[in-house]
Amino acid sequence: MKIGIFDSGVGGITVLKEALKQLPNEEYIYYADTENVPYGTKPKEEVKGYIFNVVKFLADKDIDALVIACNTATSIAVKELRKKYSFPIIGMEPAVKPAIEKSEDKKVLVTATTLTLKEQKFQDLVTKLHSEDIVDPLPLPKLVEYAENFIFDEEIIIPYLQRELSSYNLDEYGTIVLGCTHFPFYKDYFKKIVPNHIEIIDGNEGTIKHLKNTLNLEDSTLWRRSKVTFYLSGKEDKEVLKKYLDIIR
Ligand code: SIN
Repeated sequence: MKIGIFDSGVGGITVLKEALKQLPNEEYIYYADTENVPYGTKPKEEVKGYIFNVVKFLADKDIDALVIACNTATSIAVKELRKKYSFPIIGMEPAVKPAIEKSEDKKVLVTATTLTLKEQKFQDLVTKLHSEDIVDPLPLPKLVEYAENFIFDEEIIIPYLQRELSSYNLDEYGTIVLGCTHFPFYKDYFKKIVPNHIEIIDGNEGTIKHLKNTLNLEDSTLWRRSKVTFYLSGKEDKEVLKKYLDIIR
């Protein structure tokens, strides 16, 4: 099957990597909207325009399914995209439900972009789970900027995370949700600085399981012959493509 995966930039590569692990025999087209990244700090209507252009590009490639490997894009456009296109569209959702289950009697800190946390979709999810009192949102837009610039240095990221988390009493929290596909790159840094009991959860594995079930695809470890084609909306940059390949290897 031909599966389109898109993100504003490099974040969705963490989802592509999970797809290659769980579904190694499919064909993937990965689109990074590098000309317009970041999405999460821009006005919603502007970002919606970018998303519809990307999805049209992928639809014209005759994809069988689409993974919106971007929480921000999912929040603001998944409903309208599903009305417009007939192929299955899988979106990202902050893993709030599993986080609540794992947190037991403690609170859940949901990290994401500013736009994702402001969106009705997130508010509705929290309301549906009756979790207004135990879910706290924390926007971390700078992590998107760091990931887009391939900045993974501990000396830069850890002080940033420490600053952002400093006003929270982390003993009150049981889980931290990474509600942006750019954030799993920094999972180990979160782990380093938060108390040991806190579990860090992202939605990548669940999203690809959902894709697998939706398309009725079988597990297969016998053949490893997926084909991946990359497109960037920004300038075609060989260095960037090389870094994307390094991440999925
Ligand atoms: C961004 O472009 O701001 C990040 C998008 C996301 O993964 O939510």
